[in-house]
Amino acid sequence: MFDLPDDEILPLSKEHVFYTWSAQAKVNPIVVQRAKGVYFWDINEKRYLDFNSMTMCVNIGHGDDRVIKAMQQQVAELSYAAPGMTTKVRALASKAVADVTPHQALTKVLFTLGGADANENAIKLARGYTGRHKILTRYRSYHGATAGAMAATGDPRRVIWEPNLMTGIVHFLDPYRYRSTFHRTNPAILEKEFAQDYLNHLEEIIQYEGPETIAAILMESVTGTNGIIIPPEGYMQGVRALCDKYGIVMIADEVMSGFGRTGKWFAVEHWDVVPDMITMAKGLTSAYAPLGAVAMKPEIASAFDERVFESGLTYASHPVSLAAAVANISVIREDKIVERAAGMGPVLKRVLTDMGEAHPSVGEVRSIGLFGILELVKDRNTKEPMAPWNSSSPEMIALKKYCIDNGLFLYTHWHTVLIIPPLIITEGQLKEGFDILDRALEITDKAV
Ligand SMILES: Cc1ncc(COP(=O)(O)O)c(C=O)c1O
Repeated sequence: MFDLPDDEILPLSKEHVFYTWSAQAKVNPIVVQRAKGVYFWDINEKRYLDFNSMTMCVNIGHGDDRVIKAMQQQVAELSYAAPGMTTKVRALASKAVADVTPHQALTKVLFTLGGADANENAIKLARGYTGRHKILTRYRSYHGATAGAMAATGDPRRVIWEPNLMTGIVHFLDPYRYRSTFHRTNPAILEKEFAQDYLNHLEEIIQYEGPETIAAILMESVTGTNGIIIPPEGYMQGVRALCDKYGIVMIADEVMSGFGRTGKWFAVEHWDVVPDMITMAKGLTSAYAPLGAVAMKPEIASAFDERVFESGLTYASHPVSLAAAVANISVIREDKIVERAAGMGPVLKRVLTDMGEAHPSVGEVRSIGLFGILELVKDRNTKEPMAPWNSSSPEMIALKKYCIDNGLFLYTHWHTVLIIPPLIITEGQLKEGFDILDRALEITDKAV
């Protein structure tokens, strides 16, 4: 389509592209050419098995013709409409999203461009609805890279931008059992009691901050890059109860955990909890086009029946992105992709367990649906991580390099390896990837 010889792509990119999350001089990107299913290829025809769904977002897999055709038809019919207008595809997309929310209870949908601005808008809505200012979020969280979403983010990606971020965020601790501060001497504590300890911690913080000042609790239902932390039984229900008790809005950030990733449309459904708002992006279109959304209960929307919601984005409700969302949701339904992810959940769990048994550098594995992680350690007793907090190590760099060299694309974060493949992955393809990872783990085993 565009005229540029393959061997000029990288040099031209190096000259003109400014990369995010990167030191510019150190960027050495894969030059991707095409993608299909669970694979993508670079310009040298090298094939990669995609164990990260690119940026944890290509849930239905690459190159699905049904989504591509819907987008093509939409761009030909109407490529753009102003946010104050409505279109056929906007009506259909908002209904499609509302229909997949838990108990179909989140009936109003505000579209955004991605996950960060979905969270920003959810925060504004919660503040407007409650008339309160503070937002509680967890330390092991990522909510996006715009100033407000970055303030909400608990992990170190926030710290370098401080103090010039949005005010009013208070962080609390995650129920992270493997490294629980409260339970180092009592690791065998019953799950119910473990959950209660972290709910008590949260309630204590609510009290200290003043419940009447807190607009919302914003949480990833299952923590993504910060460790695939799966809430213990009773925790989500307990957070819901605290929100009800103190009139706090519960916002579930399902940007990464939504759209089938955990074997449910949204991860909160595992605990039968209905949040007041869900923020989403990534799997909403499976990344065929950029789109985020905030789905909310009608009473939150009604708070703005007479009052203007003072916010907006030029590309909110972009018809081509909405067409991608409608087609993507119908592919998920048609191909029973949520059910497939649920069915593959035990398969991934078994392979991860096998890895843990075979490799001394694996400290713990966790997974839910097709959302998995290996925590690599230098010592299983002390749990010393294979890379320090907020950093990497020669072993982790070598492990990642081995995988990439051998055609397995995955995401490593500090001392962890994430397993987040497209939800259409088969058992055979999963095995193909784990065969490579199995060999790569021999590198980290040497550091034990
Ligand atoms: C849980 C979560 N929330 C929000 C975001 C931000 O989404 P975006 O990059 O589309 O702004 C991400 C991105 O990785 C995420 O994982």
